[in-house]
Amino acid sequence: MTRTTIIAIAGASASGKSLFSQTIYNELVNELEPGAIAIIEEDAYYKDQSHLPMAHRTQTNYDHPDAFEHELMLEHLTQLRSGNSVEVPTYDYAQHTRSDKTRRVPAAKILIVEGILLLSDKALNKEFDIKVFIDTPLDICLMRRMQRDMEQRGRTLQSVVEQYQATVRPMFYQFIEPSKHNADLVVTRGGMNRVAIDIIKSKIKYLLQE
Ligand code: C5P
Ligand code: MG
Repeated sequence: MTRTTIIAIAGASASGKSLFSQTIYNELVNELEPGAIAIIEEDAYYKDQSHLPMAHRTQTNYDHPDAFEHELMLEHLTQLRSGNSVEVPTYDYAQHTRSDKTRRVPAAKILIVEGILLLSDKALNKEFDIKVFIDTPLDICLMRRMQRDMEQRGRTLQSVVEQYQATVRPMFYQFIEPSKHNADLVVTRGGMNRVAIDIIKSKIKYLLQE
């Protein structure tokens, strides 16, 4: 197989996209030959806000497509398809901006991309060969998000609740939920769905043998 296959994993915030994608990647990466598989997060393409004061950064709507530099992501996918490596930005959720470091991602035969708004972007959708939507009930997502944002992303309970009401929930209904219809597969329970993980792993192995 010479062509790159891009697998997109989308769904609500804290639905289990990252765990689902990382599990597939981690379980395959050592088993496959070098250069077979790579993974990229949409969150890496949140716009740089280092020029803005902190008070301003906390007010950004991070669940709207305008918060992302999707053009750069599209350019990177094109580069990777052409066999070139790319320097993917890294994101600091506590500082609400890109960090100084980048991560070199080499071209790979299988590329997994994951993020909330991937299936809502028309231009990106054209690049995806396999589109998966992680469909986890929103109350489960909210509980996970509270815990994660307080433990790992430097947030208070009050800030999580306010952000959820102001932007996370309304943007889910405006952009994320409707994008489910662009998916080829809908997976319940995210990172906990062992059968779905194994099915995607089998498909990847099959593609690499072709
Ligand atoms: O990992 P997950 O898909 O949950 O990451 C996306 C979420 O990160 C978005 O719902 C957005 O609200 C949140 N986010 C944030 N602060 C930032 C950037 C993103 O709370 N600075
Ligand atoms: Mg995530």
